[in-house]
Amino acid sequence: MKKILKILCIFVVIVTCNCSRVLELTDKFSEIRKDGGHWLVMFYAPWCGHCKRLEPIWGHIAQSLYKTNIRVAKIDCTRFTGLAKEFGVSGFPTIKFFKVDQDFTYSGDRTKDDIVNFALRMSSPPVQDITRPDSFANIKNSNNVFFLYVGVQEGALWDTYLQNAIKLQANAFFYATNVDIASQHITIEEHPSALVCKESSCYFYTVDGDADVDHMNNTLNRWINEERFETFPKISRGNIHDILHTKKYVVIAIVEENKLQQISPEMLEFRDMVESVIRKNRDKYHKHFQFGWIGSPELANSIAMTVLPLPYLLVLNSTTNHHHIPEDEPTQLTVEALSIFLEQIYNQSVPAYGGNSFPVRLYRTYFEARTSIGDMWKGNPVLTTVLFGLPLGFLSLILYSICCQDILDADEEDEETEPLLQHEKKE
Ligand SMILES: *[C@@H]1O[C@H](CO)[C@@H](O)[C@H](O)[C@H]1NC(C)=O
Ligand SMILES: *[C@@H]1O[C@H](CO)[C@@H](O)[C@H](O)[C@H]1NC(C)=O
Ligand SMILES: *[C@@H]1O[C@H](CO)[C@@H](O)[C@H](O)[C@H]1NC(C)=O
Repeated sequence: MKKILKILCIFVVIVTCNCSRVLELTDKFSEIRKDGGHWLVMFYAPWCGHCKRLEPIWGHIAQSLYKTNIRVAKIDCTRFTGLAKEFGVSGFPTIKFFKVDQDFTYSGDRTKDDIVNFALRMSSPPVQDITRPDSFANIKNSNNVFFLYVGVQEGALWDTYLQNAIKLQANAFFYATNVDIASQHITIEEHPSALVCKESSCYFYTVDGDADVDHMNNTLNRWINEERFETFPKISRGNIHDILHTKKYVVIAIVEENKLQQISPEMLEFRDMVESVIRKNRDKYHKHFQFGWIGSPELANSIAMTVLPLPYLLVLNSTTNHHHIPEDEPTQLTVEALSIFLEQIYNQSVPAYGGNSFPVRLYRTYFEARTSIGDMWKGNPVLTTVLFGLPLGFLSLILYSICCQDILDADEEDEETEPLLQHEKKE
C-alpha cells in the first residue's frame, strides 16, 4: 500500500509535459533525489530570455538522453523558490547534474552536444576503465581531449589522478587502462603514467622534482587544468573563465560568425593563420600560450572595452587580465610578425591595457551596459524607448514638478482649465 502511494506520489509530482520528454519538477524534488538516480535539471524562470532560447535545445537533450538512466527535467524557480535557494541557484538558466548526494553545475556553452556530453560524463564513474582494445579507438573518435592513466591502479600517481578526476569530472574525461591495451595505440615508455590525448596525439605528464604525493598533487592538478582544452578551441562566455585557469597567455583570434555559424573568407583566412602558428610550433608556444578564437565580437569588445575592428587579435594575460594588441593592422599580420609579437609579450616589452583593477572593472560594466542598451535599441527600438523612456519621462515629470512648482501653481493654469469646463457646461 505504502509503495503504491509512493509511486502515485511520484506521478503527481512529476507532470510529464506532453510536448517533450522533459519532466516538470516541483518542490518534492529535494525528497525524490534522495532515492538516487541521475538527474539533469534546468532551473529556469518563465520571464528569462536565455531560458526560452534553451527550451527547444532542452527538448532535444531529453530526447537524446531518453534511453539512458539520466532523467532530464526542469524547475520553475519563480514557483519553487525554496528549491532555487536550496541548490544555490542565483542566475537563470542554471543547469545542474544530480547524483547520489552530489550536485554539479554546468558552466560550458549551452549547446545540445556539450550538455549531453556533460550529462553522460557525470553519470559515469569519475575514472572509466578501458578493458577492450577496440573501445580505445571509439573513445579517441568521440572525444577531442581526454586523460588516460596507464598501469596498475595503486600508488601516489593513481591516488592523485583519481582525486583530480573526482574533482574535475565536470570539466574533462578521465580513463584508465592497462599497459597491454595502451601499447596497442601509444608507445608507453614507463608506467604507471598519466597522459592527455588531444586531436590524435598524446602527451605525457612528467613530474619534475620530487615524486612525493604533495608535489604530485599540485603539479598534476595544474597540468590537467593546462591541458584540458583543445589546441585551438572556440572561446565563449561559457568557457573563458576555465581557459583563464590555464594561467597562460591566451592568444585569441577574433572573427564574426553569422547566425549559421559561417565566417567570411578573409576572417577565416586570418583565423587559419593564427591557428597555424600553434599547430606548427606547439613545442615553442604550448608552455606559455593557449590559443583560441572568438566567434562573437561582443565578448572581445567587452574585454577590450571598445568596439574592435574585425578580424582582430587580442592576447590576454590570464593572471592580471591585462590585454595586449598588435601595433600593426591585424589583417596585415603575418606568421613572422605574430611570433615576434608573442616574444615581446613574453619578455614584457609591449604595453598592456585593461586589467582587473577597480576603475577598469567599473568602466567595463559601464561599457557593457551601454553596449547592451545599444543592442536593445537596434533589436527593438519601441521596447527600449518604453523601458528606458518611461522611467525617464516620469523622472523628468517629477523633477519638473519639484523645480517648477510655482509655475504649475500659477494662475494661468487655472485659466487654461476654466474655458474647457465652461465649454463642457455649454454642451
Ligand atoms: C590534494 O590536494 C587537495 C587540495 O588541493 C587535497 O584536498 C587532497 O587531500 C590532496 N591529496 C593528496 C593525496 O594529498
Ligand atoms: C602576466 O603579467 C604578470 C605581471 O606583469 C606577469 O608576472 C605574468 O608572467 C604575466 N603572464 C601570465 C601568463 O600570467
Ligand atoms: C623582447 O623580444 C623582442 C623580440 O624577440 C626583442 O627584439 C627584444 O629585444 C626583447 N626585449 C627584451 C627586454 O628582452
